Amino acid sequence: MLPAVGSLCISRTPRGGPRFTMAVRSNVNVSVAPILTKLQKECAAPLPVLRNVADAMTADMRAGLVVDGGGELKMILSYVDALPTGNERGLFYALDLGGTNFRVLRVQLGGQEERVQATEFEQVSIPQELMCGTSEELFDFIATGLAKFAEKEAGKFHLPQGRQREIGFTFSFPVKQTSIDSGVLIKWTKGFSVSGTAGKDVVACLNEAMERQGLDMRVSALVNDTVGTLAGARYWDEDVMVAVILGTGTNACYVEQMDAIPKLQGNKSPSGRTIINTEWGAFSKGLPLTEFDRDMDAASINPGEQIYEKTISGMYLGEIVRRVLLKMAEEGALFGNSVPEKLSMPFVLRTPHICAMQQDYSEDLQAVGSTLYDVAGVESSLKARKVVIEVCDTIVKRGGRLAGAGIVSILQKIDEDSNGAIFGKRTVVAMDGGLYEHYTQYRRYVHEAVTELLGTEISKNVVIEHTKDGSGIGAALLASANSKFDHDY
Ligand code: BGC
Repeated sequence: MLPAVGSLCISRTPRGGPRFTMAVRSNVNVSVAPILTKLQKECAAPLPVLRNVADAMTADMRAGLVVDGGGELKMILSYVDALPTGNERGLFYALDLGGTNFRVLRVQLGGQEERVQATEFEQVSIPQELMCGTSEELFDFIATGLAKFAEKEAGKFHLPQGRQREIGFTFSFPVKQTSIDSGVLIKWTKGFSVSGTAGKDVVACLNEAMERQGLDMRVSALVNDTVGTLAGARYWDEDVMVAVILGTGTNACYVEQMDAIPKLQGNKSPSGRTIINTEWGAFSKGLPLTEFDRDMDAASINPGEQIYEKTISGMYLGEIVRRVLLKMAEEGALFGNSVPEKLSMPFVLRTPHICAMQQDYSEDLQAVGSTLYDVAGVESSLKARKVVIEVCDTIVKRGGRLAGAGIVSILQKIDEDSNGAIFGKRTVVAMDGGLYEHYTQYRRYVHEAVTELLGTEISKNVVIEHTKDGSGIGAALLASANSKFDHDY
């Protein structure tokens, strides 16, 4: 499934809000060509632009490691200083909240020999009203789902007597961690606009909701989805240094040496390493942006924020394309003499739609035609369909290439600090997210940008590995590593 994007909590400003009109032009002899040419020019991300973005992001990472707020990237300390070893044993739960669904999972870990003995999970979709409701309502809903899931524990899953069930809580929003099992929500992203959570400890919110449900479970680790993904992938492969999410939202984390983090002021764990959650979605420097990006941002619930995320992630790509097509319909007669009413609705065209259109290899672009008809109620000529594909490709190419530049920015940061120890050997970037998984063209653009930036020789050492849903197991592994009970290994 591609990220279920779109009709979340969209602020309706006069500028960006829906306009239910059917404009009719008198002059149909207008053309979309100038709009397309301008778009392609403004979205172009050739090598020098990518290099500039990668270097600016590396510099920003460094600034954020010196002091909180030093850069756009928050460079959040995860408090994860021990990476999974394979020795983890026992029954652990994971709870994953990060998008339009939440997932609950249990895993029975069997140490080095047996590794993952059994897993079970359930996915519950979050009603749209809860994404814009109150904190209590959201957490009550989650705790109820968790309680129902925990009741069904049986078979291969075994909790030793007298032991409380422990959870790794993956919470995929910017959180200022205060310890491995607590952290304060900085702000919602990805269209969530729940009142009363920002500024609060999200583990306390969950604990209170679990108490209201009479559910006796304990959060042992609070992790971002990138951190869960890194931990999950590292369990199988010691060369994993970076984890990236390219889905509804986007973010990256990586393994950092503690003495390269001035804001730690000398505090060190025995391993000397920790995971940094970059929150790279907040980056904005040097990005090739257009009027469509600026208008979408202005109409969003978080204007001026998450600009990189709004340029490269699944929640927004379809909406940018819609805005371009609307202008082409209004000013370039893309769909003939009238402007389809539905095309004026924010987020009506979603990233899965543009992905499906780009996978249409038929001569008459039949799937493009039917998607445009279903989504926007529009009859399209072959010529118009070709233009639509060009628009999709322009936006997706920019997104994929800029995502590639982000990956390189992190790798080059680690490489610079370790005197070439990263590019000189196999290094794995664990990748998750529906956008990367399903959007073939996007994925190809990510890879192309990484290769262009690093050169063919070095990029052979960089393995981008798709680790589907690794963050759940990763969170459970981190719950195990931070269990309050004695480790029996
Ligand atoms: C959030 C990150 C998260 C990413 C991917 C972003 O909107 O700020 O915390 O990791 O989405 O889910």
